[in-house]
Amino acid sequence: MAEVTMDKIISLCRRRGFIFQSSEIYGGLNGAYDYGPMGVQLKNKIRDQWWKEMTRRQENIVGLDASILMASKVWEASGHVSNFTDPMVDCKQCKSRFRADQIDLNAPCPVCGTKGSFTAPRNFNLMFETHIGADRDASSVIYLRPETAQGIYVDFRNVVASSRVKIPFGICQVGKSFRNEITTKNFIFRSCEFEQMEMQFFCKPGTDEQWFPYWREQRMKFYIERLGIIPEHLRWHQHGPDELAFYAKDAYDIQFLFPMGWQELEGVHSRTDYDLTQHSKFSGKEQNYLDPDTNERYIPYVVETSAGLTRNVLMALSDAYEEQALPDGDVRTVLHFHPEIAPVTVAVLPLVKKDGLAEYAKDLEKGLREDFDTDYDQSGAIGRRYRRQDEVGTPYCVTVDYDTLKDHTVTLRFRDSMEQVRIPESEIANTIKKANKEYRRV
Ligand code: GAP
Repeated sequence: MAEVTMDKIISLCRRRGFIFQSSEIYGGLNGAYDYGPMGVQLKNKIRDQWWKEMTRRQENIVGLDASILMASKVWEASGHVSNFTDPMVDCKQCKSRFRADQIDLNAPCPVCGTKGSFTAPRNFNLMFETHIGADRDASSVIYLRPETAQGIYVDFRNVVASSRVKIPFGICQVGKSFRNEITTKNFIFRSCEFEQMEMQFFCKPGTDEQWFPYWREQRMKFYIERLGIIPEHLRWHQHGPDELAFYAKDAYDIQFLFPMGWQELEGVHSRTDYDLTQHSKFSGKEQNYLDPDTNERYIPYVVETSAGLTRNVLMALSDAYEEQALPDGDVRTVLHFHPEIAPVTVAVLPLVKKDGLAEYAKDLEKGLREDFDTDYDQSGAIGRRYRRQDEVGTPYCVTVDYDTLKDHTVTLRFRDSMEQVRIPESEIANTIKKANKEYRRV
């Protein structure tokens, strides 16, 4: 099987409308990307799967959508103002910038080859700073949030007071985060603007020891069972003492085998009462919990699951991509997305445009739109149209031909096996729903 390289994925993403460089007509903006018609569908569907997993399949988890702009005190309290830094060096010759922990400082500059050209490492805060209001002085400084988690912490008391949640419970949210990353290579893997899917699970101190393994197991299962990721492409990595974030007591990453190697996809962190304690101190308002059954008052401990949504998109693309050699010597590029996250679920194709087939197929497609994300394509040979759908990962194609006009049957083609079956058009929706449920990656 041909190797899956980042270049092949980038090229497909651009060609088929998944992902474009931001501001491309002006030369492109580093670390920022636009999601095209296919990309936004894929991203939204991964997000929906995660949201459903958290708010429906799990017990006691409620949603939140906190604002991106927050009081700067939030980031002082959380430790991000003083600690959220990367060590950075510049090459004095070519001015390229690197993370000091990612290169050998005694080696020549990897860009221009000059020896001994690096500045001394200095700490660089990753938060984007801006101003709110008309004045641009120290008092108007605010930050674009570098994680969504803090929005959950500062609304902890609001959620407890306004809903019937009782510990143990979780609050989850999906949204944009921003980090002024020094190294933004590897496409959307590490960008300056990205999306996170985070859940903070609040529990009684001591019970975090049980919830931490529970959430690790749940998160791994989600990728395999809900997103259909190949299990051999996923593994655990426990943080050593030198890797632990400033807030973490223990942390495990789920790593995925990206085209550039094993890298972090999601972190599961044991954050103790660190954040709520900090917010109690900085706000002067106790961020604690009163147990209604025992009357005990305490600051809950937190187990966090923190996934990158945009990094999930890169995982889904890398995992699904295959260049498949066919028996006739042809090669087809196919994305084996799980049907629940495929941008288009079913494409309707008239065998030819004439003799009323196009009109019939368009009508059929309109009906299927009630249940599915559909596409309609009438241009080119049928084989080429199947290939086009394979390349964006459409799991089912319905072909309308002359027999359809007579007996209302169609050909249903399955993406992975390329198998074709003849079924009455009235059975398309149910056949697809059943096949979605039974889907297994082969
Ligand atoms: N609230 C904890 C937190 O933010 P993190 O390990 O810094 O933890 C969590 O980030 C996840 O967010 C990562 O596993 C990754 O998937 C995603 N992520 C972090 N920085 C990113 C970036 N610059 N670009 C894309 N995704 C990023």
